[in-house]
Amino acid sequence: MSELFAGLQQLLGASHVQSCEQAAPYLTDKQGHYVGAVLAAVHPANTQEVAAVVRLCVQHNAPIVVQGGNTGLMGAATPDASGTAVLLLLDRMNRVREVDTDNDTLTVEAGCILQSVQDVARNAGRLFPLSLGAEGSCTLGGNLGTNAGGTAVLRYGNTRELTLGLEVVTAQGEIWNGLRGLRKDNTGYDLRDLFIGSEGTLGIITAATLKLFPLPKAQATALLAFESLGQAVEFLSHARAGFGASLTAFELLTADCLALLREHFPQGPQPFIKATQPWFALLELSDNHSDSHARDAFETVLGEAFDAELLADALIADSLAQSEALWQLRENMSEAQKRAGRNMKHDISVPISRVAEFVEHTNALLQAHFPGVRHYTFGHLGDGNLHYNVAHPIGSTVEAHMAHYEALSLLVHDSAHAHGGSISAEHGIGQRKLAMLPRYKSAVELDLMQRIKQALDPRGLLNPGKVLLSQNVKGNV
Ligand code: MLT
Ligand code: ZN
Repeated sequence: MSELFAGLQQLLGASHVQSCEQAAPYLTDKQGHYVGAVLAAVHPANTQEVAAVVRLCVQHNAPIVVQGGNTGLMGAATPDASGTAVLLLLDRMNRVREVDTDNDTLTVEAGCILQSVQDVARNAGRLFPLSLGAEGSCTLGGNLGTNAGGTAVLRYGNTRELTLGLEVVTAQGEIWNGLRGLRKDNTGYDLRDLFIGSEGTLGIITAATLKLFPLPKAQATALLAFESLGQAVEFLSHARAGFGASLTAFELLTADCLALLREHFPQGPQPFIKATQPWFALLELSDNHSDSHARDAFETVLGEAFDAELLADALIADSLAQSEALWQLRENMSEAQKRAGRNMKHDISVPISRVAEFVEHTNALLQAHFPGVRHYTFGHLGDGNLHYNVAHPIGSTVEAHMAHYEALSLLVHDSAHAHGGSISAEHGIGQRKLAMLPRYKSAVELDLMQRIKQALDPRGLLNPGKVLLSQNVKGNV
């Protein structure tokens, strides 16, 4: 047994330190793309123990990888295969530290499951609006580490916008208590925003103070059909003006997505079976008045849109059960694709005004280079964030298709970049997009990122091999 392993056992108690073999469930990412190894996996009970673990790792020059619910898509939480790292699991750190309804804030530890954070808020008569497919198993620490997005960003913002304060263990094993519930605090550099989205490469987030919102009194949901993506974007402008801040979600699906959902979830809802329109969007309105107020707003805004030919058809949910059924379509989309076999996933964003142009251009480009590939484009149209996924041509095999992943993704990412967009809107960089990043960031931006990393983690022990290459190599886009 190594000296470090014994030291960790002494620090945390033997039952909270696992060997590489015992830690096997944590060493493969959700997609099964990466498999790592560790010297030990540890489950500290509190922030002081996290800090002590970090100090011990520093003494032994051991890398530290922090993992939440292991639901990330970029391999950010999977250690490398060297077996030298200590994997830090914060599952025992799931306490609610404070609920302050006058300040509309909630302070919770990083190991809390997102759904339980939502429940704590609801039990206090408030809304914590971060919402995403993995909410039953992802943790707040992972949401903060990746600046998670989800389906309510349009109204409430990403995890970053929902966070007022953080507690962080530094790469030296100090504790920074920045758990301030302040909406205004202009006292120098914003350390909080540095740590959020840093994927465990700058510090270890152990707790956060989050913003709460009023619980909506009513919700209204509709699945809308459009003749073109351009029409959906025009409708979105109209809906923003008409609904104002009540517009909570505007999620895109295509006719091909609905067909895939029918095939893989035959018991699920089957709207618009006979529709000829190619584009659909799930719209949600949260209303702070009443059901009838929400319905009136819906009728006015959708009626105007029909008159102005901004909308081809609409299916309005007339009960909570119907609304949930429509949401099921959107939520089952990733799983439907998984059941259909491996496909190439992309998580791009472009300015909303350029979404239609991006899709038209990129679809044509892919058909020219990879004839017959099938497009499953869905996601957060209200944020300009599309999951631009590409499946194998009929008559070809998944394996043959996946062999072109790199070449095809390069076209997609170059196109997003050329349209003023990002190659990772909400899933982060991790190890999956590590080598691509220099192609799309300026030398100045990469250098600033490297210098921040160097200043906060000079020994490079925090989540090495993620987000930043050790050497900048500027690409040539
Ligand atoms: C989603 O919005 O459904 C996810 O971010 C996409 C995914 O899991 O691939
Ligand atoms: Zn998404």
